[in-house]
Amino acid sequence: MTANTSDVSSAPSLFSPVSLGKIELANRIVMAPMTRVRAGSSGIPGDLMVGYYRQRASVGLIIAEGTYPNHASQAYVGEPGIATDEQAAGWQRVFEAVHAEGGRIVLQIMHAGRGTHPDINGGRRILAPSAIAIDNKTFTEKGEQPYPVPEAMTTADIRAAVEDFVAAARRAIEAGADGVEIHGANGYLLQEFLSPAANQRTDEYGGSPHNRARFVVEVVTAIAQAVGAERVGLRISPEVDLGDVFETDRDDVLATYGTLLDQLRPLGLAYLSVLHPEPGGDLVQELRRRFDGKLIVNNSFASQTTREEALEQIEAGHADAVVVGRALIANPDLVERWQGGHPENEPRPELFYGQGAEGYTDYPFHEAA
Ligand SMILES: Cc1cc2nc3c(=O)[nH]c(=O)nc-3n(C[C@H](O)[C@H](O)[C@H](O)COP(=O)(O)O)c2cc1C
Repeated sequence: MTANTSDVSSAPSLFSPVSLGKIELANRIVMAPMTRVRAGSSGIPGDLMVGYYRQRASVGLIIAEGTYPNHASQAYVGEPGIATDEQAAGWQRVFEAVHAEGGRIVLQIMHAGRGTHPDINGGRRILAPSAIAIDNKTFTEKGEQPYPVPEAMTTADIRAAVEDFVAAARRAIEAGADGVEIHGANGYLLQEFLSPAANQRTDEYGGSPHNRARFVVEVVTAIAQAVGAERVGLRISPEVDLGDVFETDRDDVLATYGTLLDQLRPLGLAYLSVLHPEPGGDLVQELRRRFDGKLIVNNSFASQTTREEALEQIEAGHADAVVVGRALIANPDLVERWQGGHPENEPRPELFYGQGAEGYTDYPFHEAA
């Protein structure tokens, strides 16, 4: 039990407002960042993406999908970027559309690390803490191919990556985002540094939990200094083994994420987002204490988040807001449906990653359902 669960009777409801740093949410349903690969080869959000996010503006906060800070870090064909002014201008249209509907939106900045391929990132260098490949395949322009062995980053590469993260965050805020979320989850570059399996470095960025946390501390601190901590969130997914991070030792996980959050706590970030199968369990609630700020949670991929689970997370005091993914793909007006207990559309997973409006902006609203 935590201090936060001591008085359930006064617990807020899923439909009550909350502030995450400078960002004021009308309700506690947060749209999960979800890659939908509809930005074409330019990586510039167009009308289709503007319409998709506008449809979903009634959530308390939209976390827009994983977006690459530089071209080398693109993880998927069709993924949007925030590496250029043209891409930022596309995002500006998305942010304006969401704001015009009274919504709030932050942009997730995602560096693929070793989770990409030359036929995705235009033949650029593939960088990771160590020269160890993911033992799996990825979808490229030329079909499915094995992940390549990445280059171990030099200190200069690390400095350049931090600078690119900062430049991307600045571009997002200048384009009108309410904030940025740094993607430290799901096996991409930041979690690769945290992972004792993916990070085999012998310099100050590898080895001990403190050293493995160093790169993430540097990225988050630099972005917070550049755009203001109260506009910056961080997503982590301890123990969720995507991309061969193999965080299987609970003591090491606690030591690594514990030192990370001890170092981030003084910054006063807008929020910490944790993806974990047990948001109310010991690990997540211990990390919440170490962070000592607003916590938003998602109970991972095994099954789609339901209305009952979301209500329970808030009523039990496990988190300040709930991050909801697939139900929001299928129900643009999910807040209204969950508030009224109305039936829901079922998602069509075969269209999650695709190219057009089908399975993207054509899910009916409740009135029309
Ligand atoms: C199509 C799809 C794309 C996703 N892309 C991202 C992403 O870009 N960044 C991220 O942090 N998580 C991503 N996720 C994970 C979701 O944010 C969320 O954690 C997951 O869907 C589980 O929540 P749910 O059960 O409510 O769907 C993605 C999930 C799906 C289904």
